Amino acid sequence: MTADRAPAPSGARVGPGSHLLVCGGAGFIGSCFVREILAVRDRTRVTVLDKLTYAGNLANLAAVTNDPEQAARYRFVRGDIADPAIVGPLVAEADAVIDLAAESHVDRSILDPSAFLLTGVLGVHVLLEAVRRESERAMTGERRDADGRRRPAPRFLQVSTDEVYGSIEEGRSAEADPLAPRSPYAAAKAAGDLLVQSYRATYGLDVVITRGANTYGPYQHPEKLIPLFTTNALQDLPLPLYGDGFQRRDWVHVADHAGAIAFVLAHGKSGEVYNVPGGGERTNREIVAELLDVLRKPWTLVRSVPDRPGHDRRYAMDGTRLAALGWRARVQFDEGLEETVAWYRDNEAWWRAARGPEWDDYYSTQYRERFAASVAAPPGPATRTADGGWAPDRDE
Ligand code: NAD
Ligand code: DAU
Repeated sequence: MTADRAPAPSGARVGPGSHLLVCGGAGFIGSCFVREILAVRDRTRVTVLDKLTYAGNLANLAAVTNDPEQAARYRFVRGDIADPAIVGPLVAEADAVIDLAAESHVDRSILDPSAFLLTGVLGVHVLLEAVRRESERAMTGERRDADGRRRPAPRFLQVSTDEVYGSIEEGRSAEADPLAPRSPYAAAKAAGDLLVQSYRATYGLDVVITRGANTYGPYQHPEKLIPLFTTNALQDLPLPLYGDGFQRRDWVHVADHAGAIAFVLAHGKSGEVYNVPGGGERTNREIVAELLDVLRKPWTLVRSVPDRPGHDRRYAMDGTRLAALGWRARVQFDEGLEETVAWYRDNEAWWRAARGPEWDDYYSTQYRERFAASVAAPPGPATRTADGGWAPDRDE
């Protein structure tokens, strides 16, 4: 077996004043990352490369474009990460590439996986090839700044997900665990991870990977559980709970997820993978009950609909490695959820725009037959009794 190539120098150089290429920066987590990075006002420059799919939204970056100081350090390029002609020159300018570009919704990957593979596999490959070329130019001394000084190779950070570990009935996934993705979305993300790791082993690129938990917060597209149920409940529309609703997810606030990405970019060990858990494990039923509570809407809105095919029962990750590096999540789930629900209540124009014509087609394809086959969801957000019945609500 061939030994791994010597690693490129570590990413300590990604600090104040760096130029970051943020792929997928107009999406939910990407835009939060960009807003937070530029708000620090430490001279960091950001180029966002985004295809503006149905999920990309320039309104998510209004806080940046409306602030002259931040706007001067920001540039937007509309384009596809799978297009080498666009990617090459942008990577040549960048000190680091942060890849958040992806088709991100599991249900859409079940309806049609092709776009997931194009972005998640071919797109990641195109980015890695550009980073590889720049790393070689750095090695030969051709990569230089405007003043002719040598520039180090760009660092590449791939934003991945806990879904690559598959469904975890018990315990917590550690970074070295085998990958066992079960949806086309998760398989595309796992393929991206493996490609990144192969470029590290084969070409010695300076790469880091983060694997984040289920993320929630402002500006999340209303296709996902929390914004979908919130915006439906605000309109007194039914809430489609898949299967028995006892699937479990670990929730991390978007500001914490974006903060963890920035932290790993600056401090992560080259070649390492870092889990980003949230510490907010809940069943879907608990989430829905809490969300309805905040909105003062009744549980009778909830409908049990046929389950998602291959629905992962539980995700949970061990965060020891990231904690040892010095990072921890700050936002408590209950507070974060209340604030998030309030944000959707107060930002109706934003979510109404996201629920436009494309939304109507998707919503009907995804939910029409499910609602037709639905039944009232049995009450009892928290527990199922040993005989298979439902325990009463905690406050009943
Ligand atoms: P999102 O769907 O809100 O945003 C994705 C962004 O990528 C959009 O702006 C879209 O226009 C852009 N994009 C898609 N394909 C592109 C392409 N080919 N070229 C350029 N841009 C493209 O997704 P998100 O929830 O912000 O997730 C961001 C990343 O974080 C994804 O890689 C996702 O897999 C990962 N992740 C998400 C979560 C979560 O719970 N949302 C959790 C863990 C990891
Ligand atoms: O775990 C990280 C992942 O979290 C990310 O990698 C994905 O990009 C992100 O979309 C999210 O995936 P999930 O499938 O877990 O998220 P979603 O919001 O789609 O669903 C959360 C849970 O809620 C899941 O168990 C399915 C359930 N659900 C979802 C929807 C949209 C419902 O019961 N009804 C619904 O209508």
